[in-house]
Amino acid sequence: MSNNLLTVAYIAASALFILSLGGLSNQESARKGNIYGILGMLIAFVATALSSNVTAYLTLGGMILPGVIIGAIVASRVAMTSMPELVAILHSFVGLAAVLVGIANYLQGGESLTGAEVTIHQLEIYIGVFIAAITFTGSVIAFGKLRAIISSKPLMLPARHLLNLAMLGAVIGLGYQFMTAEGTAGLQPLLIMAAIASVLGIHLVAAIGGADMPVVISMLNSYSGWAAAAAGFMLSNDLLIITGALVGSSGAILSYIMCRAMNRSFFSVILGGFGEGAGTTAKAKGGDQPEGQVTETTVEDTVELLQGAKSVMIVPGYGMAVAQAQHPVSDITKILRNAGINVRFGIHPVAGRLPGHMNVLLAEANVPYDIVLEMDEINEDFPETDVVLVIGANDTVNPSAMEDPSSPIAGMPVLEVWKAGTVVVMKRGMSSGYAGVGNPLFFKENTNMLFGDAKTNVSAILGKLVESSRDSAASSSGKVLATSSAR
Ligand code: TAP
Repeated sequence: MSNNLLTVAYIAASALFILSLGGLSNQESARKGNIYGILGMLIAFVATALSSNVTAYLTLGGMILPGVIIGAIVASRVAMTSMPELVAILHSFVGLAAVLVGIANYLQGGESLTGAEVTIHQLEIYIGVFIAAITFTGSVIAFGKLRAIISSKPLMLPARHLLNLAMLGAVIGLGYQFMTAEGTAGLQPLLIMAAIASVLGIHLVAAIGGADMPVVISMLNSYSGWAAAAAGFMLSNDLLIITGALVGSSGAILSYIMCRAMNRSFFSVILGGFGEGAGTTAKAKGGDQPEGQVTETTVEDTVELLQGAKSVMIVPGYGMAVAQAQHPVSDITKILRNAGINVRFGIHPVAGRLPGHMNVLLAEANVPYDIVLEMDEINEDFPETDVVLVIGANDTVNPSAMEDPSSPIAGMPVLEVWKAGTVVVMKRGMSSGYAGVGNPLFFKENTNMLFGDAKTNVSAILGKLVESSRDSAASSSGKVLATSSAR
Protein backbone atom coordinates (compact mmCIF):
# COMPACT_ATOMS: atom_id res chain seq x y z
CA MET A 1 0.00 0.00 0.00
CA SER A 2 1.36 3.44 -0.94
CA ASN A 3 2.05 5.99 1.78
CA ASN A 4 -0.66 8.30 0.42
CA LEU A 5 -3.27 5.59 0.63
CA LEU A 6 -2.09 4.73 4.13
CA THR A 7 -2.55 8.37 5.19
CA VAL A 8 -6.06 8.44 3.70
CA ALA A 9 -6.93 5.20 5.54
CA TYR A 10 -5.59 6.63 8.80
CA ILE A 11 -7.61 9.83 8.38
CA ALA A 12 -10.75 7.78 7.73
CA ALA A 13 -10.07 5.62 10.80
CA SER A 14 -9.45 8.70 12.97
CA ALA A 15 -12.73 10.25 11.80
CA LEU A 16 -14.55 7.00 12.59
CA PHE A 17 -13.02 6.91 16.10
CA ILE A 18 -14.20 10.46 16.75
CA LEU A 19 -17.69 9.59 15.44
CA SER A 20 -17.61 6.51 17.64
CA LEU A 21 -16.93 8.54 20.79
CA GLY A 22 -19.69 10.97 19.80
CA GLY A 23 -22.10 8.05 19.30
CA LEU A 24 -21.23 6.47 22.63
CA SER A 25 -22.21 9.60 24.53
CA ASN A 26 -25.89 8.87 23.98
CA GLN A 27 -27.85 5.65 24.49
CA GLU A 28 -29.82 5.99 21.28
CA SER A 29 -26.70 6.34 19.16
CA ALA A 30 -24.45 3.98 21.20
CA ARG A 31 -24.95 1.01 18.87
CA LYS A 32 -24.00 3.15 15.88
CA GLY A 33 -21.02 4.48 17.85
CA ASN A 34 -19.81 0.93 18.44
CA ILE A 35 -20.11 0.11 14.75
CA TYR A 36 -18.09 3.22 13.83
CA GLY A 37 -15.41 2.12 16.31
CA ILE A 38 -15.26 -1.42 14.89
CA LEU A 39 -15.05 -0.07 11.32
CA GLY A 40 -12.33 2.41 12.29
CA MET A 41 -10.30 -0.33 13.96
CA LEU A 42 -10.75 -2.63 10.96
CA ILE A 43 -9.53 0.05 8.54
CA ALA A 44 -6.61 0.92 10.84
CA PHE A 45 -5.62 -2.69 11.19
CA VAL A 46 -5.84 -3.64 7.50
CA ALA A 47 -4.06 -0.46 6.39
CA THR A 48 -1.21 -1.02 8.87
CA ALA A 49 -0.88 -4.68 7.91
CA LEU A 50 -0.68 -3.75 4.21
CA SER A 51 1.76 -0.86 4.73
CA SER A 52 5.28 -1.13 3.37
CA ASN A 53 6.74 -1.37 6.93
CA VAL A 54 5.13 -4.74 7.53
CA THR A 55 6.74 -7.75 5.93
CA ALA A 56 6.77 -10.53 8.54
CA TYR A 57 3.24 -11.74 7.85
CA LEU A 58 3.82 -15.17 9.35
CA THR A 59 4.87 -13.69 12.71
CA LEU A 60 1.99 -11.20 12.55
CA GLY A 61 -0.55 -13.93 11.82
CA GLY A 62 0.92 -16.15 14.52
CA MET A 63 0.38 -13.37 17.07
CA ILE A 64 -2.96 -12.07 15.89
CA LEU A 65 -4.86 -15.32 15.49
CA PRO A 66 -4.54 -16.56 19.10
CA GLY A 67 -5.16 -12.97 20.28
CA VAL A 68 -8.41 -12.73 18.32
CA ILE A 69 -9.61 -16.14 19.52
CA ILE A 70 -8.77 -15.55 23.19
CA GLY A 71 -10.22 -12.03 23.07
CA ALA A 72 -13.48 -13.20 21.49
CA ILE A 73 -13.94 -16.03 24.00
CA VAL A 74 -13.15 -13.90 27.05
CA ALA A 75 -15.31 -10.95 25.93
CA SER A 76 -18.31 -13.13 25.09
CA ARG A 77 -18.18 -14.90 28.45
CA VAL A 78 -17.66 -11.95 30.76
CA ALA A 79 -20.61 -10.98 32.96
CA MET A 80 -21.67 -7.33 32.94
CA THR A 81 -20.70 -7.06 36.64
CA SER A 82 -17.15 -8.28 35.86
CA MET A 83 -16.62 -5.77 33.06
CA PRO A 84 -14.38 -3.44 35.15
CA GLU A 85 -12.01 -6.38 35.79
CA LEU A 86 -11.79 -7.14 32.08
CA VAL A 87 -11.16 -3.49 31.29
CA ALA A 88 -8.43 -3.38 33.97
CA ILE A 89 -6.57 -6.39 32.61
CA LEU A 90 -6.88 -5.11 29.03
CA HIS A 91 -5.30 -1.82 30.12
CA SER A 92 -2.40 -3.77 31.56
CA PHE A 93 -1.84 -5.31 28.10
CA VAL A 94 -1.75 -1.84 26.53
CA GLY A 95 0.80 -0.78 29.15
CA LEU A 96 3.00 -3.85 28.66
CA ALA A 97 2.84 -3.52 24.86
CA ALA A 98 3.85 0.15 25.07
CA VAL A 99 6.80 -0.69 27.39
CA LEU A 100 8.04 -3.30 24.89
CA VAL A 101 7.52 -0.96 21.93
CA GLY A 102 9.54 1.71 23.73
CA ILE A 103 12.45 -0.61 24.52
CA ALA A 104 12.46 -2.12 21.01
CA ASN A 105 12.32 1.32 19.48
CA TYR A 106 15.30 2.43 21.53
CA LEU A 107 17.35 -0.63 20.55
CA GLN A 108 16.47 -0.08 16.90
CA GLY A 109 17.96 3.42 17.15
CA GLY A 110 16.83 6.47 15.19
CA GLU A 111 19.64 6.48 12.58
CA SER A 112 17.94 8.99 10.29
CA LEU A 113 17.46 11.48 13.14
CA THR A 114 19.86 14.32 13.88
CA GLY A 115 20.36 17.04 16.50
CA ALA A 116 17.21 18.03 18.41
CA GLU A 117 15.25 15.23 16.73
CA VAL A 118 17.35 12.67 18.60
CA THR A 119 16.66 14.39 21.93
CA ILE A 120 12.92 14.53 21.21
CA HIS A 121 12.87 10.89 20.17
CA GLN A 122 14.73 9.82 23.33
CA LEU A 123 12.34 11.85 25.49
CA GLU A 124 9.34 10.20 23.78
CA ILE A 125 10.78 6.80 24.55
CA TYR A 126 11.63 7.60 28.16
CA ILE A 127 8.31 9.25 29.05
CA GLY A 128 6.37 6.63 27.06
CA VAL A 129 8.01 3.72 28.88
CA PHE A 130 7.48 5.49 32.23
CA ILE A 131 3.71 5.98 31.74
CA ALA A 132 3.33 2.54 30.20
CA ALA A 133 5.09 0.72 33.06
CA ILE A 134 2.88 2.49 35.64
CA THR A 135 -0.19 1.58 33.58
CA PHE A 136 0.91 -2.05 33.31
CA THR A 137 1.48 -2.84 36.97
CA GLY A 138 -1.21 -0.43 38.24
CA SER A 139 -3.79 -2.19 36.06
CA VAL A 140 -2.70 -5.62 37.28
CA ILE A 141 -3.19 -4.48 40.91
CA ALA A 142 -6.58 -2.91 40.04
CA PHE A 143 -7.59 -6.21 38.42
CA GLY A 144 -6.48 -8.12 41.54
CA LYS A 145 -8.48 -5.81 43.82
CA LEU A 146 -11.62 -6.01 41.71
CA ARG A 147 -11.32 -9.80 41.54
CA ALA A 148 -10.74 -9.89 45.31
CA ILE A 149 -7.42 -11.71 44.74
CA ILE A 150 -5.80 -8.77 46.56
CA SER A 151 -7.39 -7.07 49.59
CA SER A 152 -9.43 -4.02 48.64
CA LYS A 153 -8.06 -2.16 51.69
CA PRO A 154 -5.71 0.71 50.83
CA LEU A 155 -2.06 -0.11 51.52
CA MET A 156 -0.92 2.63 53.88
CA LEU A 157 2.86 2.38 54.11
CA PRO A 158 4.53 4.88 56.47
CA ALA A 159 5.84 7.92 54.57
CA ARG A 160 4.22 6.63 51.39
CA HIS A 161 4.13 10.06 49.76
CA LEU A 162 7.87 10.46 50.45
CA LEU A 163 8.45 7.03 48.97
CA ASN A 164 6.62 8.05 45.80
CA LEU A 165 8.62 11.28 45.63
CA ALA A 166 11.88 9.35 46.08
CA MET A 167 10.94 7.04 43.20
CA LEU A 168 10.05 10.03 41.06
CA GLY A 169 13.43 11.60 41.91
CA ALA A 170 15.23 8.39 40.89
CA VAL A 171 13.29 8.38 37.59
CA ILE A 172 14.43 11.95 36.87
CA GLY A 173 18.06 11.09 37.74
CA LEU A 174 18.02 8.03 35.50
CA GLY A 175 16.42 10.16 32.80
CA TYR A 176 19.49 12.40 32.79
CA GLN A 177 21.77 9.33 32.40
CA PHE A 178 19.55 8.00 29.62
CA MET A 179 19.51 11.25 27.67
CA THR A 180 23.27 11.72 27.83
CA ALA A 181 24.17 8.10 26.93
CA GLU A 182 25.74 7.36 23.53
CA GLY A 183 24.16 4.87 21.07
CA THR A 184 22.16 2.28 22.98
CA ALA A 185 24.19 2.63 26.20
CA GLY A 186 21.08 4.16 27.81
CA LEU A 187 19.40 0.76 27.90
CA GLN A 188 20.45 0.13 31.48
CA PRO A 189 18.96 3.35 32.97
CA LEU A 190 15.87 2.78 30.79
CA LEU A 191 15.32 -0.71 32.20
CA ILE A 192 15.99 0.40 35.79
CA MET A 193 13.52 3.27 35.32
CA ALA A 194 10.93 0.81 33.92
CA ALA A 195 11.39 -1.36 37.02
CA ILE A 196 11.00 1.65 39.36
CA ALA A 197 7.92 2.86 37.42
CA SER A 198 6.45 -0.64 37.77
CA VAL A 199 6.91 -0.49 41.56
CA LEU A 200 5.42 3.03 41.55
CA GLY A 201 2.39 1.71 39.62
CA ILE A 202 1.89 -1.07 42.17
CA HIS A 203 2.29 1.31 45.11
CA LEU A 204 0.04 4.05 43.70
CA VAL A 205 -2.88 1.71 43.03
CA ALA A 206 -2.35 -0.45 46.14
CA ALA A 207 -2.81 2.73 48.22
CA ILE A 208 -6.30 3.26 46.78
CA GLY A 209 -9.25 1.53 48.44
CA GLY A 210 -11.79 -0.69 46.70
CA ALA A 211 -14.47 2.05 46.77
CA ASP A 212 -12.41 4.21 44.44
CA MET A 213 -11.35 1.38 42.14
CA PRO A 214 -13.77 2.24 39.28
CA VAL A 215 -12.32 5.76 39.18
CA VAL A 216 -8.84 4.23 39.14
CA ILE A 217 -9.85 2.04 36.20
CA SER A 218 -10.97 5.04 34.23
CA MET A 219 -7.76 6.86 35.23
CA LEU A 220 -5.67 3.90 34.05
CA ASN A 221 -7.74 3.95 30.88
CA SER A 222 -6.57 7.51 30.44
CA TYR A 223 -2.93 6.54 31.17
CA SER A 224 -3.11 3.68 28.67
CA GLY A 225 -4.29 6.22 26.07
CA TRP A 226 -1.33 8.51 26.77
CA ALA A 227 1.01 5.49 26.68
CA ALA A 228 -0.40 4.58 23.25
CA ALA A 229 -0.01 8.20 22.09
CA ALA A 230 3.62 8.15 23.27
CA ALA A 231 4.15 4.91 21.32
CA GLY A 232 2.62 6.70 18.31
CA PHE A 233 5.24 9.45 18.61
CA MET A 234 8.04 6.86 18.85
CA LEU A 235 6.80 5.01 15.78
CA SER A 236 5.83 8.22 13.92
CA ASN A 237 2.35 6.76 13.61
CA ASP A 238 -0.26 9.55 13.40
CA LEU A 239 -3.21 7.24 13.93
CA LEU A 240 -1.77 5.89 17.16
CA ILE A 241 -1.17 9.45 18.37
CA ILE A 242 -4.76 10.50 17.59
CA THR A 243 -6.33 7.35 19.06
CA GLY A 244 -4.13 7.52 22.15
CA ALA A 245 -5.04 11.17 22.70
CA LEU A 246 -8.76 10.37 22.30
CA VAL A 247 -8.56 7.54 24.85
CA GLY A 248 -6.32 9.59 27.16
CA SER A 249 -8.55 12.65 27.23
CA SER A 250 -11.88 10.80 27.34
CA GLY A 251 -10.58 8.65 30.23
CA ALA A 252 -9.50 11.78 32.10
CA ILE A 253 -12.90 13.45 31.55
CA LEU A 254 -14.71 10.29 32.69
CA SER A 255 -12.56 10.11 35.85
CA TYR A 256 -13.45 13.72 36.59
CA ILE A 257 -17.19 13.09 36.07
CA MET A 258 -17.09 10.03 38.35
CA CYS A 259 -15.19 11.90 41.06
CA ARG A 260 -17.74 14.71 40.92
CA ALA A 261 -20.67 12.27 41.17
CA MET A 262 -19.05 10.66 44.24
CA ASN A 263 -18.11 14.04 45.72
CA ARG A 264 -14.44 13.02 45.77
CA SER A 265 -11.62 15.23 44.62
CA PHE A 266 -9.52 13.80 41.80
CA PHE A 267 -6.34 14.27 43.83
CA SER A 268 -7.72 12.60 46.94
CA VAL A 269 -8.46 9.56 44.76
CA ILE A 270 -4.97 9.53 43.24
CA LEU A 271 -3.28 10.02 46.60
CA GLY A 272 -5.27 7.10 47.99
CA GLY A 273 -6.29 6.09 51.49
CA PHE A 274 -10.07 6.20 50.98
CA GLY A 275 -12.42 3.25 50.71
CA GLU A 276 -10.90 1.21 53.50
CA GLY A 277 -12.78 -2.04 53.76
CA ALA A 278 -15.24 -1.09 51.07
CA GLY A 279 -17.80 -3.73 50.29
CA THR A 280 -21.16 -4.81 51.48
CA THR A 281 -20.00 -6.31 54.75
CA ALA A 282 -17.70 -3.53 55.79
CA LYS A 283 -18.40 -0.45 57.84
CA ALA A 284 -17.03 2.85 56.69
CA LYS A 285 -15.58 5.07 59.38
CA GLY A 286 -17.53 8.10 60.56
CA GLY A 287 -21.19 8.99 60.42
CA ASP A 288 -23.94 7.86 62.77
CA GLN A 289 -25.26 4.37 62.21
CA PRO A 290 -29.00 4.83 61.63
CA GLU A 291 -31.38 3.02 63.98
CA GLY A 292 -35.13 2.62 64.26
CA GLN A 293 -38.07 0.55 63.14
CA VAL A 294 -38.35 -0.71 59.59
CA THR A 295 -41.68 -1.36 57.94
CA GLU A 296 -41.76 -4.59 55.98
CA THR A 297 -44.06 -5.01 53.04
CA THR A 298 -45.20 -7.81 50.75
CA VAL A 299 -45.39 -8.38 47.01
CA GLU A 300 -49.21 -8.13 47.15
CA ASP A 301 -49.16 -4.76 48.94
CA THR A 302 -46.54 -3.45 46.52
CA VAL A 303 -48.69 -4.48 43.54
CA GLU A 304 -51.69 -2.71 45.09
CA LEU A 305 -49.59 0.38 45.67
CA LEU A 306 -48.40 0.39 42.07
CA GLN A 307 -51.87 -0.08 40.67
CA GLY A 308 -53.20 2.82 42.71
CA ALA A 309 -50.41 5.20 41.64
CA LYS A 310 -50.50 7.87 38.93
CA SER A 311 -46.74 8.23 38.72
CA VAL A 312 -44.06 5.68 39.51
CA MET A 313 -40.29 6.14 39.55
CA ILE A 314 -37.97 3.15 39.37
CA VAL A 315 -34.49 3.64 40.83
CA PRO A 316 -32.20 0.74 40.00
CA GLY A 317 -28.79 0.05 41.54
CA TYR A 318 -26.07 -2.55 41.76
CA GLY A 319 -28.48 -5.16 43.24
CA MET A 320 -30.61 -5.10 40.08
CA ALA A 321 -27.48 -5.86 38.06
CA VAL A 322 -26.43 -8.71 40.35
CA ALA A 323 -29.93 -10.21 40.35
CA GLN A 324 -30.26 -9.67 36.57
CA ALA A 325 -33.76 -8.33 37.21
CA GLN A 326 -33.85 -5.88 34.29
CA HIS A 327 -36.12 -7.99 32.04
CA PRO A 328 -39.03 -8.43 34.50
CA VAL A 329 -38.56 -4.75 35.46
CA SER A 330 -39.02 -3.85 31.79
CA ASP A 331 -42.19 -6.00 31.59
CA ILE A 332 -43.63 -4.36 34.72
CA THR A 333 -42.97 -0.97 33.12
CA LYS A 334 -44.90 -1.99 30.00
CA ILE A 335 -47.93 -3.20 31.99
CA LEU A 336 -48.06 -0.10 34.18
CA ARG A 337 -47.69 2.22 31.21
CA ASN A 338 -50.45 0.37 29.38
CA ALA A 339 -52.62 1.01 32.43
CA GLY A 340 -51.99 4.76 32.00
CA ILE A 341 -49.46 5.12 34.84
CA ASN A 342 -46.54 7.48 34.23
CA VAL A 343 -43.46 5.29 34.78
CA ARG A 344 -39.93 6.69 34.64
CA PHE A 345 -36.45 5.59 35.69
CA GLY A 346 -34.07 7.71 37.78
CA ILE A 347 -30.41 6.91 37.14
CA HIS A 348 -27.60 8.01 39.42
CA PRO A 349 -24.31 8.67 37.56
CA VAL A 350 -22.43 6.08 39.67
CA ALA A 351 -25.23 3.55 40.19
CA GLY A 352 -23.85 0.03 39.83
CA ARG A 353 -20.17 -0.55 39.35
CA LEU A 354 -19.24 1.03 36.04
CA PRO A 355 -20.24 4.14 34.13
CA GLY A 356 -23.57 3.70 32.38
CA HIS A 357 -24.10 0.32 34.08
CA MET A 358 -27.85 0.80 34.59
CA ASN A 359 -28.38 2.37 31.16
CA VAL A 360 -26.77 -0.63 29.47
CA LEU A 361 -28.92 -3.11 31.40
CA LEU A 362 -32.14 -1.20 30.76
CA ALA A 363 -31.32 -0.80 27.07
CA GLU A 364 -30.66 -4.56 26.90
CA ALA A 365 -34.15 -5.12 28.36
CA ASN A 366 -35.68 -2.74 25.78
CA VAL A 367 -36.80 -0.07 28.22
CA PRO A 368 -37.62 3.01 26.06
CA TYR A 369 -34.76 5.56 26.24
CA ASP A 370 -37.06 8.53 26.74
CA ILE A 371 -38.24 7.33 30.17
CA VAL A 372 -34.71 6.67 31.46
CA LEU A 373 -33.64 9.95 33.03
CA GLU A 374 -30.45 11.15 34.68
CA MET A 375 -30.38 12.25 38.33
CA ASP A 376 -30.18 15.95 37.47
CA GLU A 377 -33.20 15.69 35.17
CA ILE A 378 -35.41 13.89 37.66
CA ASN A 379 -34.43 14.83 41.21
CA GLU A 380 -36.96 17.66 41.44
CA ASP A 381 -39.82 15.36 40.43
CA PHE A 382 -39.79 13.10 43.50
CA PRO A 383 -42.25 15.22 45.57
CA GLU A 384 -44.83 14.76 42.76
CA THR A 385 -44.18 11.01 42.50
CA ASP A 386 -46.61 8.60 44.17
CA VAL A 387 -44.44 5.49 44.39
CA VAL A 388 -40.69 4.94 44.08
CA LEU A 389 -39.37 1.42 43.57
CA VAL A 390 -35.72 1.26 44.69
CA ILE A 391 -34.34 -1.94 43.19
CA GLY A 392 -30.98 -2.94 44.67
CA ALA A 393 -29.78 0.65 45.10
CA ASN A 394 -28.37 1.85 48.41
CA ASP A 395 -25.59 4.49 48.52
CA THR A 396 -27.12 6.38 45.61
CA VAL A 397 -30.38 6.93 47.56
CA ASN A 398 -28.80 7.51 50.98
CA PRO A 399 -30.16 10.71 52.63
CA SER A 400 -27.19 10.86 55.04
CA ALA A 401 -25.14 12.16 52.10
CA MET A 402 -27.21 15.35 52.45
CA GLU A 403 -28.19 15.29 56.10
CA ASP A 404 -25.14 14.03 58.01
CA PRO A 405 -21.95 16.07 57.51
CA SER A 406 -19.91 13.40 59.35
CA SER A 407 -21.00 10.68 56.92
CA PRO A 408 -18.20 9.31 54.71
CA ILE A 409 -20.41 10.04 51.70
CA ALA A 410 -21.41 13.55 52.89
CA GLY A 411 -21.83 15.89 49.96
CA MET A 412 -22.31 13.15 47.37
CA PRO A 413 -25.33 14.08 45.25
CA VAL A 414 -28.06 11.43 45.68
CA LEU A 415 -31.51 10.65 44.29
CA GLU A 416 -33.94 12.20 46.79
CA VAL A 417 -36.39 9.29 46.73
CA TRP A 418 -37.65 9.89 50.29
CA LYS A 419 -39.50 12.99 49.05
CA ALA A 420 -41.97 10.78 47.15
CA GLY A 421 -45.33 9.57 48.53
CA THR A 422 -44.18 6.01 49.28
CA VAL A 423 -40.83 4.32 48.76
CA VAL A 424 -40.49 0.56 48.36
CA VAL A 425 -36.89 -0.62 48.83
CA MET A 426 -36.07 -4.04 47.41
CA LYS A 427 -32.98 -5.72 48.83
CA ARG A 428 -32.12 -8.95 50.58
CA GLY A 429 -31.37 -7.62 54.05
CA MET A 430 -30.20 -4.54 55.95
CA SER A 431 -26.58 -4.63 54.80
CA SER A 432 -24.92 -1.48 53.56
CA GLY A 433 -23.93 -0.62 50.01
CA TYR A 434 -20.52 -0.28 48.37
CA ALA A 435 -19.35 2.58 50.60
CA GLY A 436 -20.18 0.57 53.74
CA VAL A 437 -22.43 3.32 55.14
CA GLY A 438 -25.74 2.74 56.99
CA ASN A 439 -28.83 4.11 55.27
CA PRO A 440 -31.49 6.08 57.23
CA LEU A 441 -33.85 5.78 54.23
CA PHE A 442 -34.81 2.28 55.40
CA PHE A 443 -36.17 3.71 58.67
CA LYS A 444 -38.23 6.55 57.21
CA GLU A 445 -41.99 6.52 57.79
CA ASN A 446 -42.87 6.44 54.10
CA THR A 447 -40.39 3.64 53.33
CA ASN A 448 -41.47 0.01 53.01
CA MET A 449 -38.85 -2.72 52.80
CA LEU A 450 -39.50 -5.62 50.43
CA PHE A 451 -36.82 -8.11 51.43
CA GLY A 452 -35.50 -10.81 49.11
CA ASP A 453 -33.63 -11.29 45.87
CA ALA A 454 -34.55 -8.49 43.44
CA LYS A 455 -35.31 -10.84 40.55
CA THR A 456 -37.54 -13.11 42.67
CA ASN A 457 -39.54 -10.16 44.00
CA VAL A 458 -39.76 -8.28 40.72
CA SER A 459 -40.88 -11.48 38.94
CA ALA A 460 -43.51 -12.06 41.63
CA ILE A 461 -44.80 -8.49 41.19
CA LEU A 462 -44.89 -9.03 37.44
CA GLY A 463 -46.81 -12.30 37.90
CA LYS A 464 -49.45 -10.58 40.05
CA LEU A 465 -49.77 -7.66 37.62
CA VAL A 466 -50.22 -10.06 34.68
CA GLU A 467 -52.79 -12.03 36.68
CA SER A 468 -54.81 -8.98 37.60
CA SER A 469 -54.68 -7.54 34.06
CA ARG A 470 -55.88 -10.94 32.78
CA ASP A 471 -58.71 -10.93 35.36
CA SER A 472 -59.79 -7.43 34.43
CA ALA A 473 -59.67 -8.33 30.70
CA ALA A 474 -61.77 -11.44 31.38
CA SER A 475 -64.30 -9.55 33.47
CA SER A 476 -64.65 -6.80 30.85
CA SER A 477 -65.11 -9.37 28.04
CA GLY A 478 -67.63 -11.17 30.31
CA LYS A 479 -69.54 -7.91 30.65
CA VAL A 480 -69.51 -7.44 26.87
CA LEU A 481 -70.82 -11.00 26.38
CA ALA A 482 -73.53 -10.51 28.98
CA THR A 483 -74.67 -7.25 27.37
CA SER A 484 -74.75 -8.74 23.84
CA SER A 485 -76.68 -11.86 24.97
CA ALA A 486 -79.17 -9.64 26.84
CA ARG A 487 -79.74 -7.84 23.55
P1 TAP B 1 -24.81 -0.10 46.37
O1 TAP B 1 -24.77 1.09 47.25
O2 TAP B 1 -23.56 -0.82 46.12
O3 TAP B 1 -25.89 -1.09 47.00
C1 TAP B 1 -26.31 -2.22 46.32
C2 TAP B 1 -27.34 -2.93 47.18
O4 TAP B 1 -27.86 -3.99 46.40
C3 TAP B 1 -26.74 -3.54 48.42
O5 TAP B 1 -27.05 -2.77 49.55
C4 TAP B 1 -27.35 -4.95 48.48
O6 TAP B 1 -28.08 -5.10 49.70
C5 TAP B 1 -28.30 -4.99 47.29
N1 TAP B 1 -28.26 -6.25 46.59
C6 TAP B 1 -27.18 -6.99 46.25
N2 TAP B 1 -27.55 -8.09 45.60
C7 TAP B 1 -28.91 -8.08 45.55
C8 TAP B 1 -29.88 -8.96 45.02
N3 TAP B 1 -29.57 -10.09 44.42
N4 TAP B 1 -31.17 -8.60 45.14
C9 TAP B 1 -31.53 -7.46 45.76
N5 TAP B 1 -30.65 -6.60 46.29
C10 TAP B 1 -29.35 -6.90 46.18
O7 TAP B 1 -25.44 0.25 44.96
P2 TAP B 1 -25.73 1.64 44.24
O8 TAP B 1 -26.79 2.40 44.95
O9 TAP B 1 -25.93 1.29 42.80
O10 TAP B 1 -24.40 2.47 44.43
C11 TAP B 1 -23.21 2.20 43.71
C12 TAP B 1 -22.01 2.34 44.59
O11 TAP B 1 -20.83 1.96 43.85
C13 TAP B 1 -21.80 3.74 45.10
O12 TAP B 1 -21.24 3.74 46.38
C14 TAP B 1 -20.81 4.28 44.10
O13 TAP B 1 -20.05 5.37 44.61
C15 TAP B 1 -19.93 3.05 43.90
N6 TAP B 1 -19.18 3.27 42.67
C16 TAP B 1 -19.81 3.17 41.48
C17 TAP B 1 -19.12 3.53 40.35
C18 TAP B 1 -19.78 3.51 39.02
S1 TAP B 1 -18.99 4.16 37.83
N7 TAP B 1 -20.97 3.02 38.86
C19 TAP B 1 -17.82 3.95 40.44
C20 TAP B 1 -17.22 4.00 41.68
C21 TAP B 1 -17.92 3.65 42.79
P3 TAP B 1 -28.37 -6.55 50.29
O14 TAP B 1 -27.05 -7.22 50.45
O15 TAP B 1 -29.06 -6.29 51.59
O16 TAP B 1 -29.25 -7.24 49.31
